[in-house]
Amino acid sequence: MVSWQPGTSVSRYDFLAREVHKYKPKIIVEIGVLYGKTSTRLIAAAKKYHEKIDFYGFDLFGSATDEKLLSEVSTMPITAQKATEKLGSLGANVTLFEGDTTKTLPIFLAMNIEPDFVFIDGGHSPETIEHDFSMIRKVMHEDTKVYFDDYIETDSGEDLGWGCKYLISKLQIDPTIEVRHLPCIQHFKLRKRGSAEWTIPGTLEIVRISHARLLHPA
Ligand SMILES: C[S@@+](CC[C@H](N)C(=O)[O-])C[C@H]1O[C@@H](n2cnc3c(N)ncnc32)[C@H](O)[C@@H]1O
Repeated sequence: MVSWQPGTSVSRYDFLAREVHKYKPKIIVEIGVLYGKTSTRLIAAAKKYHEKIDFYGFDLFGSATDEKLLSEVSTMPITAQKATEKLGSLGANVTLFEGDTTKTLPIFLAMNIEPDFVFIDGGHSPETIEHDFSMIRKVMHEDTKVYFDDYIETDSGEDLGWGCKYLISKLQIDPTIEVRHLPCIQHFKLRKRGSAEWTIPGTLEIVRISHARLLHPA
């Protein structure tokens, strides 16, 4: 397993971009756009393989409040207008959804789009992550890859009340789902859900979910 340390150029987002080079998606979803940094990397990587890329981005954008961000362990995003300006110049078809994913993902589902690549990195409360995956699961095709940021392990074993570990532990026992941890662990000082103090040492990983391939004996 490769471990990331401050001062090296390898981060879990580098590994995410590598996944785009590996699977060459045409339809990309990012839940949690923030400043559009990862969105830009994902689109740029996918554009190397396809002329036409469809990117769907979800965020609270202008509707974010300090209280909501504290509860979702998130940072204040840019506005949808700024994100449109930033991502609109990359040569992809960009569609942005502003608002809570409990409201916006049902709209996306009604569009009958089956994404190839989904990065779930919006609200970090266990209930929001579970909600977001329950929606995305309905539009996964056979080869869709879904990535969760923020699989957390604290050095002390303390549960910080956020991140995808709770959901992943449930998916791990689902025989229809294959779970892979990307080979990169980043060490940080983390915070508890609802707290603004980044004082608790621990690690973050990205986890990939795909449909399990059932092996049939010849
Ligand atoms: C960690 S940031 C995303 C980082 C981004 N994926 C990147 O790699 O640069 C989380 C984002 O999710 C958004 N967010 C938090 N809760 C949300 C919710 N319930 N619905 C939609 N977006 C949400 C926040 O506004 C924030 O911009």
